[in-house]
Amino acid sequence: MPITRYLDTQPVLGAGVYLHDSAQVIGDVTLGDDCSVWCNAVLRGDVNRIRIGSMTNIQDLAMCHVSHKTPAKPEGSPLIIGDRVTIAHAVILHGCKIGNECLIGMGCIVMDDVVIEDRVMLGAGSLVPPGKRLDGGWLYVGRPAQPVRRLTAAELEHLRYSAEHYVRVKNNYLLPPQRD
Ligand SMILES: CC(C)(COP(=O)(O)OP(=O)(O)OC[C@H]1O[C@@H](n2cnc3c(N)ncnc32)[C@H](O)[C@@H]1OP(=O)(O)O)[C@@H](O)C(=O)NCCC(=O)NCCS
Repeated sequence: MPITRYLDTQPVLGAGVYLHDSAQVIGDVTLGDDCSVWCNAVLRGDVNRIRIGSMTNIQDLAMCHVSHKTPAKPEGSPLIIGDRVTIAHAVILHGCKIGNECLIGMGCIVMDDVVIEDRVMLGAGSLVPPGKRLDGGWLYVGRPAQPVRRLTAAELEHLRYSAEHYVRVKNNYLLPPQRD
C-alpha cells in the first residue's frame, strides 16, 4: 500500500486522486481532487505537514519532505503546493511553498522557506536556495535559479495544459481493467 500512517496522522485524499502502487505517501499529507502521484514518488509528511491543492501532479521519483518545528522556528517549514501544479520527474521539494499553475522542471531542487508565486516555470535542473522568492509569471533557470524573462502567453497556457493533461492520463490509469 502506498499510504502510511505516522503517529496520529494519516494521508487524506480528495476525489479522483491517483496514487501509483510504488508511490509512498506518509503522515500529515492532504491531496486535493484529481491529483496524481507517479512511480516511486515520495511525499513524507511526518515532522510537518504537506498540503497539495487540486489537479496537481507529482511525477516519478519526486521527493517531497518538510522541516520540523523548533523553538526558534515554531512553524518549521511545511510543504504547500497549489492547484494545477506540475512537479516533474526527480524534483526535490523541501519545506517550501509553490503557487498555482507552476511547472517545476525535471531534476530541480527547491529548499526550505522558498516561496514560488503563481505561474512560474522553473527550468530543468534549477536550484532555489533557502528563503528565496520567485515572482509570478516569470521563467527562472540555473543553480542558483535566476530570472530569465516573463513567460509568453503560449507558455502560460502550457502550464494549465500540462496539469489538465496529467488529469486525463491519471483518469486512464483509474479505468477498470479491459476485458478480452
Ligand atoms: C528553460 C526552458 C523552458 C527553455 O527556455 P527557452 O527560453 O526556450 O530556452 P532555449 O531553449 O531557447 O535556450 C536558451 C539558452 O538556455 C539554455 N537552457 C535551456 N534550458 C536550460 C535549463 N533548464 N537550464 C540551464 N540552461 C538552459 C540553452 O542551452 C540556451 O543556452 P545558449 O543560449 O547558451 O545556447 C526549457 O529548457 C526547460 O528547462 N523546460 C522545462 C522542461 C521540463 O522539465 N518539463 C517537465 C516535463 S514533465
